[in-house]
Parts: sequence; C-alpha cells; structure tokens
Amino acid sequence: MKKILHLFILLFITGSQVFACKSDPKIIESPTENEEINAERIAVVYLSRTNNTKVLAEMIHEVVGGDLIALETLNPYPTDYKQIVEQVASENNRNYLPPIKTKIDLSQYDRIYLGFPTWGMQLPPPMKSFLNNYDWKGKVIVPFNSNAGYGLGSCLEDLKIYAKGAKILEVFSTKGGIERDGIKLAIEGKRKMKVDKSLKEWLIKVK
Ligand SMILES: Cc1cc2nc3c(=O)[nH]c(=O)nc-3n(C[C@H](O)[C@H](O)[C@H](O)COP(=O)(O)O)c2cc1C
Repeated sequence: MKKILHLFILLFITGSQVFACKSDPKIIESPTENEEINAERIAVVYLSRTNNTKVLAEMIHEVVGGDLIALETLNPYPTDYKQIVEQVASENNRNYLPPIKTKIDLSQYDRIYLGFPTWGMQLPPPMKSFLNNYDWKGKVIVPFNSNAGYGLGSCLEDLKIYAKGAKILEVFSTKGGIERDGIKLAIEGKRKMKVDKSLKEWLIKVK
C-alpha cells in the first residue's frame, strides 16, 4: 500500500512538471524576445536637391524606422540648374568624387535604404563619393530613386561598383521633378498619394 502511495505521488509530481513546462508562457515566448533584440539596424540615407527623393526617404522612414540621414557635400553645388548640370557632367567625365560632409558609423547598421536622384543618367557624384568611403561587405542596400522621367540610367551599375560587397535589393524608381522646366517638388498632393501606394507595395517586397 505504501509502495502504491509513493508511486502515485511520483506520478503526480512528474505529471505536473511536464504540464508546467508545456504551459509556461515564458518558455514559449523567449525566441520572439530574442528576435526583437536582434532586430535589423536600419538607416535611410538620401541625397536630394529639390526634395523629391527626400519625400520618398521620409515616407520610407515612417514605415521602417531607424535613422534618417541627409547626405551633404562639403562644398555646396550651384543653385543655378544650368551650372549644376555642367559641373556634374564634368565630375562624371573625370570620375571626380566630391568630399562629403556627412559621416556615419556604418557598423551600427545592417540595412541601408539608399535614396538618390538620377544626375546625367548616372549615380550622382556625391552618392558615389559617400559609398566609396565605406566597406559594404555584409550590408544590405535597398535603393530608391527619383528622376525627371528618363529613368535610372547607369545608377544601379554605379551602385554595384561603389558599394562593392553589399547585397543590393530591388530598386524603387519614380518620376520626380523636372527642374529644367521649373518643376522642382513634384511628389506632393495627389501624386504623393499615388507614389505612397506603390512605395508601400515595394516595401513589402523588399522586407
Ligand atoms: C544635375 C542634374 C542632372 C540631372 N540629370 C537627369 C537625368 O540624367 N535624367 C533624369 O531623368 N533626370 C535628371 N535630373 C532630374 C532629377 O533626377 C529629378 O528632378 C529628381 O526628381 C530630383 O530629385 P530631388 O528633388 O530629390 O533632388 C537631373 C537633375 C539635376 C539637378
């Protein structure tokens, strides 16, 4: 009788421990907690003159979070459109990389959403210069672009050259301003709402 009683007590204790393990919410939730600690470290870095790419950057930042960083050159570009077009053409021809004022600690980030306009059908010299200052091995770049309607030109090829080692995801590219015709900020009002919809669809794809 004593033996049967001991057996019964043993079974009761073991059974309640198994039950406790299965139903302990802390044990089930711990992997999720770990994922949150290791959540991607994000920066949204952009170059913008007439604010179209800036608007895209802000829309992206609102969704993905992280640090929002505007790229600045040490020496500002001319405000006159004709002059800047000439200067950029000359810089592109010479592969000149202008000094960049903006410095970041890239080790803080795993994923960089990188925004740029098309300049002279290429990646703008300041963006080439910025990329050239860092080691991109192991980083993920998510590119986005605005242009006057002529597309990306060689921007993605340039990106691959200057951000060597980075994993480059699908680009988002849209029509922005046409400064030549006096149209500076074009991604506003109804156009902004339309862009916002396609931008959010793209953000899901590159997640
Ligand atoms: C120097 C310069 C060169 C440009 N070259 C091109 C070009 O080759 N193709 C194009 O589609 N748009 C070109 N654009 C227009 C911009 O890409 C377009 O207006 C873009 O939306 C500007 O972005 P932002 O407002 O962020 O500066 C050029 C603009 C500038 C200032």
